[in-house]
Amino acid sequence: MCGIIGYAGKRDMVSVLVSALERLSYRGYDSSGIAVMEQGEINVWKKSGKITELKKKIDNLSIVSEIGIGHTRWATHGIANDINAHPHKSQNGKISLIHNGIIENFLELKKELTKENYFFKSETDTEVIANLYQENLQQATDKMAATFQTISLLEGSYSLAILNEDNPDEIVCFRKESPLIIGIGEEENFICSDINVLIYYTKEYIELEENQVAIVKPQEVKIYNQQRELLEKKIRKVDWDSTSSEKGKYDFFMLKEIHEQPLVLKRIISRYIKDENQIAFEKLNFINEQEVIKNLKRFIIQGCGTSWHAGLVGKYWLERFTHILCEIDISSELRYRNYPYQRNDVILALSQSGETADTLACLREAKGAFIKCIGIVNVQGSVIDRESDGSIYSYAGQEIGVASTKNYIAQLMILFLLSLKIGKAKKIIRDENYHHYLEEVKKIPLLVEKILLEEDKIKKIAKKYFEKKGFIFIGRGINYPNALEGALKLKEISYIHATGYAAGELKHGPLALIDPETPVIAIIPQDELYKKNLNNLLEIKARKGKIISLITAKDEEVSKMSDEVIHLPETSEYLNPLLTIVPLQLLSYYIAVYLGRDVDQPKNLAKSVTVE
Ligand code: M6R
Repeated sequence: MCGIIGYAGKRDMVSVLVSALERLSYRGYDSSGIAVMEQGEINVWKKSGKITELKKKIDNLSIVSEIGIGHTRWATHGIANDINAHPHKSQNGKISLIHNGIIENFLELKKELTKENYFFKSETDTEVIANLYQENLQQATDKMAATFQTISLLEGSYSLAILNEDNPDEIVCFRKESPLIIGIGEEENFICSDINVLIYYTKEYIELEENQVAIVKPQEVKIYNQQRELLEKKIRKVDWDSTSSEKGKYDFFMLKEIHEQPLVLKRIISRYIKDENQIAFEKLNFINEQEVIKNLKRFIIQGCGTSWHAGLVGKYWLERFTHILCEIDISSELRYRNYPYQRNDVILALSQSGETADTLACLREAKGAFIKCIGIVNVQGSVIDRESDGSIYSYAGQEIGVASTKNYIAQLMILFLLSLKIGKAKKIIRDENYHHYLEEVKKIPLLVEKILLEEDKIKKIAKKYFEKKGFIFIGRGINYPNALEGALKLKEISYIHATGYAAGELKHGPLALIDPETPVIAIIPQDELYKKNLNNLLEIKARKGKIISLITAKDEEVSKMSDEVIHLPETSEYLNPLLTIVPLQLLSYYIAVYLGRDVDQPKNLAKSVTVE
């Protein structure tokens, strides 16, 4: 949440800051601002609304600067307006800073500072940091002492970038449980909250560790620990290219990302399925060891939103193919329920961004209990990637649309492969079945392409139903999580109320919602629960419900009782979730488009949720 950029160097300052903010805007998009050092003075421009609003404000200015910072906000403290937008200045105007995260004790600090005659223009916790820093600079013996003193007083998780007129050639930055990366260039350096954005400017970077302070200048970067010792820099190199941040022929990134899914799946297959169908995850040495697999007693999957839904599907696969008990919980629930971890548990942390605050907190708690942790993440070098014992990358490429699509399908594929790998090692899956499933897996990209050819048909269905006030999604067994995911996709981008249910649960309450005005989207491919699902559809029909069904091709029976049908190609029944999700994504997308929504940046949301 909130995007941070900082630049020290000779490029055109405004275009670096603004282009980075545009790329970072999926992290927060309710206001934005920049602060630049011009001849020893800090000048700030900020504006509520999308970055285009800020651009209008600074368009005609000629700004010459070698030190600057920029911020795109997702409001936590105070509404989205010009005053609450970052950067914030200290009372004496000498300090300007941007911030991602939350300062939990900001009210206490504000009270103390008010007693010292500080006043505040905004409602933010960020302005409190600016004034606290001013106060500490006035009291402390030197700048580093003031910096660490300020940090020691801040509770919460945050990353900060600070300009100070008394040191006009540098940016001071710091992070605690919130992402911040330093990009190293030729006579120029960057700071950024997202490696996927940083790689547009440089491929060399330093991961700022917890509680370290970095001083970033055009010619050098210095990093200090809490003892104020200068540390040796570990410069890393990104070994992947930026995926295009252009929408190309698509109106929204979400649609582009839906269409990228076959490619993402092919990438995963070629990365992880080796010669003779061996499944190998390069950064997961500990799970390759037969001993660990033998002793593994329980998986605990955790994640939020769409990642949690992927975990729900994963549970079905893991339990079926490995016979190992698999628990799953939403990270924000798991973290407060004093979970009784046991020896030989393995925790799977699922996260596209690799920085979701609740998921990270659970991971840390599990590690504190000496539990091995596997991160399944998209963003390499993210905090969850770094702090896990081993990671599996989802290789989805940068996902920009707030609604997660291509990373979901990637997570599903990885969980399927992981289940097969362990199932085979434990000799639960017979060799011929193992090879059969992998041959079926290899066909999935092509089958997803086939579903994408149905786009026009799905668009027509969306046109017919987009004005409905509510939708119900149902599925059973392995397809139940996709009912939840379909409902989430629709809610978040169209703002229509939608609810996902296990089909068998209908008669326990939700049937009361059935009427001709509330369409039911039924995920009903041919699988072991098909007949049970059929009964549920009959119950809906008997109550004059409208049914839009996702069926395996040639299913006459369901076709007859449905108002609309979307056909799915045939695959192994276990692999159906990789197919059934695609029409649901397209349906939500087109409903949102017909409603005129801002699909990629829905209201109130942000792509990375780095606050609790
Ligand atoms: O980056 P993560 O996978 O950890 O994010 C988790 C959720 O915030 C995310 O999936 C969210 O629910 C998406 N907006 C869903 O489309």
